[in-house]
Amino acid sequence: MYMGTAAPPSAAGPAAADEPINLPPMVPVGRRLSVLQFSQRQIEFVFRARRELGEVFRFRGLIPGDPVVTSHPDHVRSLFTAKPELAPSITAESPLRPIVGPNSVLTANGPRHLRQRKLLLPPFHGEAIERYAAMIREVADRSIDGWPVGEPFPLGHRMQAITLDVIMSGIFGVEGRPPRGTPEHRMRLTVKHLANASTSWWAKIGELMNVGHAEPVGPMRQALGLLDGATYPIIEARRRADDLDERADILSMLMTAQTEDGELLSDQELRDELLTLVLAGFETTANSLAWTWSGCCAPRRPTSGYGQRSAMATAPTTSRRRSPRGCDRGP
Ligand code: HEM
Repeated sequence: MYMGTAAPPSAAGPAAADEPINLPPMVPVGRRLSVLQFSQRQIEFVFRARRELGEVFRFRGLIPGDPVVTSHPDHVRSLFTAKPELAPSITAESPLRPIVGPNSVLTANGPRHLRQRKLLLPPFHGEAIERYAAMIREVADRSIDGWPVGEPFPLGHRMQAITLDVIMSGIFGVEGRPPRGTPEHRMRLTVKHLANASTSWWAKIGELMNVGHAEPVGPMRQALGLLDGATYPIIEARRRADDLDERADILSMLMTAQTEDGELLSDQELRDELLTLVLAGFETTANSLAWTWSGCCAPRRPTSGYGQRSAMATAPTTSRRRSPRGCDRGP
């Protein structure tokens, strides 16, 4: 998108009422290959199509009627401001639906989405955010203290560790590493292993097997069984806690959050929202941190573009303590 710059007139519209609507060009690839390429290499797929076909194009996908992709600012603006009945969202068909379930804020639509948003808001008010910021600083400091000095190391795993510690503390209220044998420890391990396994070829096959399914099937079902096996015991134990009102973690706040009608979240809704927060917040943040650090702090290294698996950094040699916000180029 070219947000912030003056938009050139769009070749694709708006059309006058009596003007025939020209369908945008189609990506010249069959449906199966198109679905495979789009699901596995989304960015390469859409950027190539934009380069070769222009800013508005269609491709043969799983959505009936073949999806149109646009990157023109006028279109983006009109889609975001259109009435839902004129431009209905397909969020309920999201590939995340088998994972985060139907109650998640990510997969809900209309009034249901609004309800989930309202329930999720209390843990994200000003005072709580200040507490999270202090906690995040503390976790990052502790982690940086353990970084090797004077030798290159993969940043991805370090950023994953920081992000996981933040999630366990912010979402579940676990300070430091959860003790072995607890559901929180199981949750931490499961999220870490599943995230690392998610780039394997069998995980990709599992992902494809789930396309178009509302409920998980195949390996994804098993993987989610592991996550659920950790999540529900955490919820169950927290329901018995007698200090819920004093706790500042997101799970405790969600448990006490009520809708305007006085409704509380059910266990299944809590599970869906917790997994949404864990999965929406984990890889996104860990990867953004690693790439940001790599882009602004690490010595330049040749990269192989999007395909590069993990960013590398050289830790500062002069001091163990260096603020991640320092962003001074490494030695
Ligand atoms: C740099 C890190 C992050 C990136 C790049 C990112 C990106 C996104 C994007 C693109 C969406 C829109 C998805 C859609 O509508 O299909 C989204 C939604 C969402 N993200 Fe993030 N996210 C990040 C961090 C987080 C964190 C840390 C959390 C939780 C603590 C989080 C929770 C959510 C939730 C709950 C939604 C759904 C909101 C709604 O539908 O109302 N995200 N994120």
